[in-house]
Amino acid sequence: MMDYFNHRDGELYAEDIVLHDIANKVGTPFYCYSAATLTRHAEVFKDALKQLKPLVCFAVKANSNLAVLKLLGKTGLGADVVSEGEARRAMAAGIPASRIVFSGVGKQPGEMRYALEQDILQFNVESASELHTLSEVAGLLGKKARVALRVNPDVDAATHVKISTGKKENKFGISMDDAPALYATATLLSGIDVVGVSVHIGSQLTSLEPFRDAYLRVRSLVELLRARGIAVRTIDLGGGLGVPYDGEAPPLPSAYGEMVSEVFSGLNAQFIFEPGRMIAANAGILVTRVIYVKHSERSYVIVDAGMNDLMRPALYDARHAVVAVTETKAKEAVVDLAGPVCESSDVFVKDLKIPMPQEGDLLALRSAGAYGATMSNSYNSRLLIPEVLVSGKKFSVIRARPSYADMLKQDVVPDWV
Ligand code: LLP
Repeated sequence: MMDYFNHRDGELYAEDIVLHDIANKVGTPFYCYSAATLTRHAEVFKDALKQLKPLVCFAVKANSNLAVLKLLGKTGLGADVVSEGEARRAMAAGIPASRIVFSGVGKQPGEMRYALEQDILQFNVESASELHTLSEVAGLLGKKARVALRVNPDVDAATHVKISTGKKENKFGISMDDAPALYATATLLSGIDVVGVSVHIGSQLTSLEPFRDAYLRVRSLVELLRARGIAVRTIDLGGGLGVPYDGEAPPLPSAYGEMVSEVFSGLNAQFIFEPGRMIAANAGILVTRVIYVKHSERSYVIVDAGMNDLMRPALYDARHAVVAVTETKAKEAVVDLAGPVCESSDVFVKDLKIPMPQEGDLLALRSAGAYGATMSNSYNSRLLIPEVLVSGKKFSVIRARPSYADMLKQDVVPDWV
């Protein structure tokens, strides 16, 4: 996928700004997003599916910064949210409720109430208990919740086990066997308006086959439900399309679009998609500075970003490509790129081949725009790092680095301690 982080005359740019300049003003580490890349990915995805006239709801969990959400909202995207917090972010970013779907296995009554009051488009319900709770909450408000049941098609997404969701042993969705009966129940509940079917089998998929298998099963279910007189107006096909991190070659959005059109040909419905990573991952990088170079058993390059800032390598063995912000003629070396956190898992890349970095150099971890900032935390009492958005020659800090005073004032020491 094309992005707008490229070297010119040996210097890495974000669109038309030298990253060095941003680093000097903002300090390191920081996340940097390209507005042009975000917008382009939104357009590419919509275009790949245009035959279906889809509603594309960006998965807010991938990148929930208000500026990013507003930008994507302006391209016509809706939002897939999994908590009241994400719903409030989407609303605050100006995404209309009519383009918001609410996913997740553990929605609480208060969250349902908020979403119903906003009149969001659809709840993707994942269990019989949740369905009954939602019906009660809606009833108390004198409303009906528009519901799709999220089914679990029992397919292997062939991705990392921690981001697979579509096998029957996963906590997600309602089994295909149980779905027809639960649909029948749902039509009898006074607070529920049954509108559709939803599915999501996992994330970072690098082949179309698992999608195809799942979607064929969804199609059969839709046909069965319609034959039984249950109106299925929306078909939500989830997210999951993979991106190249470091050499992977996931299917192009256009190939995904063709497969979807083929599987659902002749079936009329409002199609919904929930891409997260495909929109945001390659629209962001993490810029970090080398603090120390250390030679022991192995050669370590210790940088100022840690596993708390970007959890993906520690959590999923993810491998993000790394480039020098200023290209050098240094001899290529094989190093381990590690953060300062006191955990052996705080290693971003093992056996990284790179022109030997020097202390003080800036490095960029690529493909960090999705599930980077949103999963970051302040372990080791490290401050959350800022986010910067670039467009052409301009940039803005879209989340500021907090101060140590901000950090300290969150805790309360009772007078009896
Ligand atoms: N819809 C639902 C219901 C989801 O659970 C997810 C992701 C998406 C859509 C968006 O999937 P995407 O298009 O981004 O693959 N933290 C992990 C990824 C977790 C994905 C969770 N659900 C990572 O960094 O790889």
